[in-house]
Amino acid sequence: MDAQRDFVLASDLAERFRQDLSNVHRGRVLTEFLGQAEVHLWVVPLVISAEESSYFKSILSLDEQERAGRFRKSRDAQRYVAARGTLRSLLGAYLTIEPDRLQFVYDAFGKPRLAGEEPLTSMKFSVSHSDDLALFGFARGHKNGVDVERIRQDIDVEDLAARYFSPNEFKKLRSLPADQRREAFYCGWTRKEAYLKGRGEGLSVPLERVEVSLTPGEPAMILKASGDRSVSRRWTVQHLSPASGYIGAAAVEGRDIAFRCFRCEPALARGRQSACE
Ligand SMILES: CC(C)(COP(=O)(O)OP(=O)(O)OC[C@H]1O[C@@H](n2cnc3c(N)ncnc32)[C@H](O)[C@@H]1OP(=O)(O)O)[C@@H](O)C(=O)NCCC(=O)NCCS
Repeated sequence: MDAQRDFVLASDLAERFRQDLSNVHRGRVLTEFLGQAEVHLWVVPLVISAEESSYFKSILSLDEQERAGRFRKSRDAQRYVAARGTLRSLLGAYLTIEPDRLQFVYDAFGKPRLAGEEPLTSMKFSVSHSDDLALFGFARGHKNGVDVERIRQDIDVEDLAARYFSPNEFKKLRSLPADQRREAFYCGWTRKEAYLKGRGEGLSVPLERVEVSLTPGEPAMILKASGDRSVSRRWTVQHLSPASGYIGAAAVEGRDIAFRCFRCEPALARGRQSACE
């Protein structure tokens, strides 16, 4: 599947989805937009206007506002506000709840989830951001993880792979033509992180314990985790090219689950908000 093309096509869908959501809020549509066998992926740029920033700040909880205030660089604070504000807005839209009423709690390794009762507790989501881009994953009941990375030209990917990849993966990377190795490294890195974030463990598990496919153009797969090969039958992974210069991956527990990709501006949240009023 050509993930880049999929995202381009999905931008029209995102607008339709937004309109559909506002119809749900007006009680006109009863359809469940997020199907039981789907993962919705949202790619959102984190560059926001002053107006969007003040809206997003207004829907953050006190601890989130404090966290935003602790960033040393204002650009990082702005990205955090945009990412958290968009997360609240999308969750609010899926669950038909005002975004500022949502409460997050954090697992032992820091993964956020929604506090409360059904249907909040079965909404599984994952967040990743890199520079000016965020990637969000949402599924009903299925654990999922996402990771996005900006492809940096100034890092030694072979050195990093020697430190963090398994010996098999390192050998594979070195066997590829030199001009494919950077992309292969990011394919491997994002798949590992997406899977570990889906499990909620993050980088508390050494990356080398999760072996993944990494040859550009070949299907994304988790090959084994801590020696267990059956994981490849239990988890589905999707390669993503969310924007030029970025690589991403999404992982979901389960088989026969479709990934639907949406691209939107942060203004989506405001649009939905005004549609509800
Ligand atoms: C989660 C983790 C992989 C993030 O990696 P990263 O590449 O720096 O950042 P990303 O942008 O991809 O992801 C950040 C998001 O992941 C989410 N997250 C945090 N911890 C997570 C975890 N354990 N599992 C899944 N997702 C997690 C958060 O939503 C966070 O976004 P936010 O900071 O805006 O709330 C890394 O921070 C990690 O491994 N954390 C666990 C560390 C740990 O073991 N802590 C010990 C207990 S305190």
